[in-house]
Amino acid sequence: MAMVCLSDFEAYAKKYLPKIAWDYFAAGADDCTTRDENILAYKRIRFRPRMLRDVSVVDIRTKILGSEISFPVGIAPTGFHQLAWPDGEKSTARAARAMSTCYVASTYSTCTLEEISRAAPGGLRWFQLYIHRNRAASQQLVRRAEALGFRGLVLTADLPYTGKRRDDVRNGFRLPPHMKVKNLEGAFEVCKMRQGQTPRDLCIVAAQMSFPFAVSFWLQGDDCSEYGLPPNSLDPSVTWNDIYWLRSLTHLPIIIKGILTREDAELAVRHGVQAIIVSNHGGRQLDEGPATIDALVEVVEAVRGRVEVYVDGGIRKGSDVLKALALGAKCVFIGRPALWGLAYRGEEGLQDVLRILQDEFRLSMALAGCASVSEIGPHMVQFSKL
Ligand code: FNR
Ligand code: LAC
Repeated sequence: MAMVCLSDFEAYAKKYLPKIAWDYFAAGADDCTTRDENILAYKRIRFRPRMLRDVSVVDIRTKILGSEISFPVGIAPTGFHQLAWPDGEKSTARAARAMSTCYVASTYSTCTLEEISRAAPGGLRWFQLYIHRNRAASQQLVRRAEALGFRGLVLTADLPYTGKRRDDVRNGFRLPPHMKVKNLEGAFEVCKMRQGQTPRDLCIVAAQMSFPFAVSFWLQGDDCSEYGLPPNSLDPSVTWNDIYWLRSLTHLPIIIKGILTREDAELAVRHGVQAIIVSNHGGRQLDEGPATIDALVEVVEAVRGRVEVYVDGGIRKGSDVLKALALGAKCVFIGRPALWGLAYRGEEGLQDVLRILQDEFRLSMALAGCASVSEIGPHMVQFSKL
């Protein structure tokens, strides 16, 4: 099978992954409107290409928070890479290092931060944090990441509770027993579920209850317990003030992920974060929010260059990367496509995905008349009326 573009990897992953893993990776919240809109919104943007501009050499390198990367695409934090490939996040770390780009490791990794660091010493890595009610556990994770040489702390702001992903409910999604959320092992007391009751039972009970009780039960009972964590372990009471708490724990730059409005962008800058990732969690949280490429415009306007802005969600080809940069992103991140690459051939498969994106991005730049990333700007795009 010739792997020519990212959707070839998607088709492979869909065919060969166990259904429960594929469904978890593919899931969006509710009707998946926002998940799909992330992709459709790129198709409404058209280029304004310029000609005869000497594109014999095209420089695609850039910097994020002072670190050079080979091209402006990093790997977004996603959970449970062992569902895609036995070596899990270790393979991800190796591929990112081989391609000289940034890998954001999730709190919900199936390898520890230590294993990830040992797998690819010297690679550029950031650590993505979910704040748990057990603040000591979160603090310990931040300190470990900093000591291991992670160079940024990504606080994900859009998951006070897990969104409702219907296929995961139907499948009774949970990690297979041999996989663990290893970073959190030992951090919490053993899950105290009622004897004999599985997370699936909880979901079914929730689904059978009448609104609104079902909804509140869902929110309180399905809070990542399917990952083998104690129910209610995430802290939904997190506010902007907790940025100061994080600041007191670490010297690492803080990057806030999940911002979609000018109001929150302004708050992020005022609370002293170093960068913002415009994200809707791949459409897995609140359905029917904006596509991220649309929200990017509003956030970039509000930020006025005070901090770096990145975007994720729906990046599937090199020209999407060019559009995002034209609209003000310094870099983009890919979530699902990285998982498809892993599912194809582990480290090598993920490198293939990154290399294809890199080649497509370079070609799009050249065809649009752009010889270096610094020349990319809003003059290069227009919104189509389609
Ligand atoms: C995610 N995402 C995510 N985000 C995060 O901050 N921590 C996490 O652990 C996860 N886990 C996760 C698992 C899976 C299977 C998916 C698909 C996504 C969200 C992720 O970082 C990113 O925002 C989206 O994946 C971007 O959208 P695309 O590239 O998948 O379209
Ligand atoms: C998800 C969590 C792990 O989106 O962030 O599945």
